[in-house]
Amino acid sequence: MSSSQFAAQSASPLGKLGIEAALEAAADPSISPKPKIFDEFALTDRVGLVSGGNRGLGLEMALACCEAGARVVYCFDLPEKPSDEWIASRDYVAKLGNNSRLEYFSANVTDQQALWKKTEEIGDKEGRMDFCVAAAGILRSHTDCLEYPAQEYREVLDVNTNGVLFTAQAAGRQMSRFGRGGSIVLIASMSGSITNRGHAWVSYNTSKAAVLQMARSMACELGEKKIRVNSLSPGHIYTSMTAAYLDKQPHLFDVWSSMNPLGRLGRPDELRGVVTWLASDASTFCTGSDIIVSGGHHSW
Ligand SMILES: NC(=O)c1ccc[n+]([C@@H]2O[C@H](COP(=O)([O-])OP(=O)(O)OC[C@H]3O[C@@H](n4cnc5c(N)ncnc54)[C@H](O)[C@@H]3O)[C@@H](O)[C@H]2O)c1
Repeated sequence: MSSSQFAAQSASPLGKLGIEAALEAAADPSISPKPKIFDEFALTDRVGLVSGGNRGLGLEMALACCEAGARVVYCFDLPEKPSDEWIASRDYVAKLGNNSRLEYFSANVTDQQALWKKTEEIGDKEGRMDFCVAAAGILRSHTDCLEYPAQEYREVLDVNTNGVLFTAQAAGRQMSRFGRGGSIVLIASMSGSITNRGHAWVSYNTSKAAVLQMARSMACELGEKKIRVNSLSPGHIYTSMTAAYLDKQPHLFDVWSSMNPLGRLGRPDELRGVVTWLASDASTFCTGSDIIVSGGHHSW
């Protein structure tokens, strides 16, 4: 392949970057070089959808995308009305001065038709759909795998696996409709790759392992539409989900902290960078990957 064929095959949406920009500047002294690395992470005017966006990791990631310049991030979750932390985040975004906004609607990720319909209405209104974070998820009780009741098992898989697919479909259908490509981030867990020592979480672990393969499978189907699909797998992070264990069994705080090389739990805000990277043009050659952010838990 010649260098001109290579250039025709792929060009950065931001023009010349890195060494190419340096060579261009060397050939044309009238160019004054400017840093572009943060422009690659910008989500200026983009439209996003986040499930489980009423609180926790979903809301944290929605807010990060607003700070990166998204026109709007539509959060949805089960409650009819959003939480106080969601309202505070919406008001915070409104004061950022970058024309970004957070919107909320109530929906259940297990209702495929409702998600498709609502997201189509968003597409009609906004005229685009650029990124999606499928973060809604549930963790149920510690239950022996040989006794695990069918109904609870089905419930966990319905939200954590089926609901992630239905959310990704809803956004992906709009990305396909507008033909601009897009980025879909499926929130899995390190528990999709490792088993949490001492915890009988067969439903959760199984549901998250399915999400890893869902991301690879969707990435392979949607690459030709320039829709990227990756999974993001956090380790132990203190949120309402993990508080259900940590607040009742405080000794787990030290146990979980000692299970990664950094010796602590993660903060929700420690996912801001990675989600912005995945949603943005800073990751345009990344698809079908699982990004593990676990403080190194999975390395031991
Ligand atoms: N906190 C962690 O340590 C951790 C680690 C790995 C993965 N995760 C994953 O990150 C995601 C977010 O978890 P979190 O820690 O912020 O927990 P969280 O409980 O604070 O947030 C989950 C959100 O999903 C919503 N939700 C649940 N069922 C839903 C449904 N049927 N329809 C719509 N929304 C629904 C909940 O109402 C809640 O707002 C989950 O997928 C979770 O499995 C969390």
